[in-house]
Amino acid sequence: MRTVRELSSLREAVAAFRAASERVALVPTMGALHAGHMALVEAARGAGVRVVASIFVNPKQFGANEDLSRYPRREAGDARMLADAGCDLLWAPPVEVMYPDGFATNISVSGVSEHWDGAARPGHFDGVATVVAKLLNQVTPDAAYFGEKDWQQLAVVRRLVADLDMGVEIVGVPTQREDDGLALSSRNIYLLPEERAAAVALPRALGVAAKAIGRGDDPVDALAQARAALEQAGFEVDYVALADAETLAPDPVPGRPRRLLAAARLGSTRLIDNVAVPTD
Ligand code: PAF
Repeated sequence: MRTVRELSSLREAVAAFRAASERVALVPTMGALHAGHMALVEAARGAGVRVVASIFVNPKQFGANEDLSRYPRREAGDARMLADAGCDLLWAPPVEVMYPDGFATNISVSGVSEHWDGAARPGHFDGVATVVAKLLNQVTPDAAYFGEKDWQQLAVVRRLVADLDMGVEIVGVPTQREDDGLALSSRNIYLLPEERAAAVALPRALGVAAKAIGRGDDPVDALAQARAALEQAGFEVDYVALADAETLAPDPVPGRPRRLLAAARLGSTRLIDNVAVPTD
């Protein structure tokens, strides 16, 4: 697997794939790869498909008080994992290639970005939308793969691609979980052993609430119980919310797919997770 860091090299490599009539799939990441990312690569691989992974820790999606400087960076190990998983090309641009001097564009996807993580992390989804638009323009893939763990991000990307007529298929890949249910995340490594033990309360609380809402219990009660269970486990809760699965609007219209989403902190680590609300 080749690693390229200049746009001209990326374009040449992708042009060579195209010249051989191969389709191209993109797996965008910020590195610190785990089995969740590998599931994206696995989903992207297919006959006649070349897989390009990107590693870029995007400063524009981190708020001033967030973990940009301590975000785990281990490109050499990531590159080995990607090569072993059958990835064909690694796009790892330095920050000055992604955002050269004079860069002045910001992409803001309204509506779907408004609530939940959009409200808790002002500017976060503008940063995501801006870098994803750039990655899609740089790699020009036929399809791009995103984890469902970042459900709202996936919805923002789908809206972005539809609104800008980008002509790329966006594929959501189900969340990969530890045996006890904790969603895989690059941030799990921050958890102290006792926090890791407590973290299982997050998928459990969501699972219980989703089941209750699915069988017709009052969502207000179910959400309050989930919040109480998280607080009991030592979480400081940002939100536990029921939303329309596509638009992320609160108070979803009956009959439309619904999603339960939560973000909560254990010590200095912020975890997010989401589950579908079953339909009967
Ligand atoms: O999900 C991520 O890792 C990032 O938000 C993404 C999509 C690579 C954009 O920086």
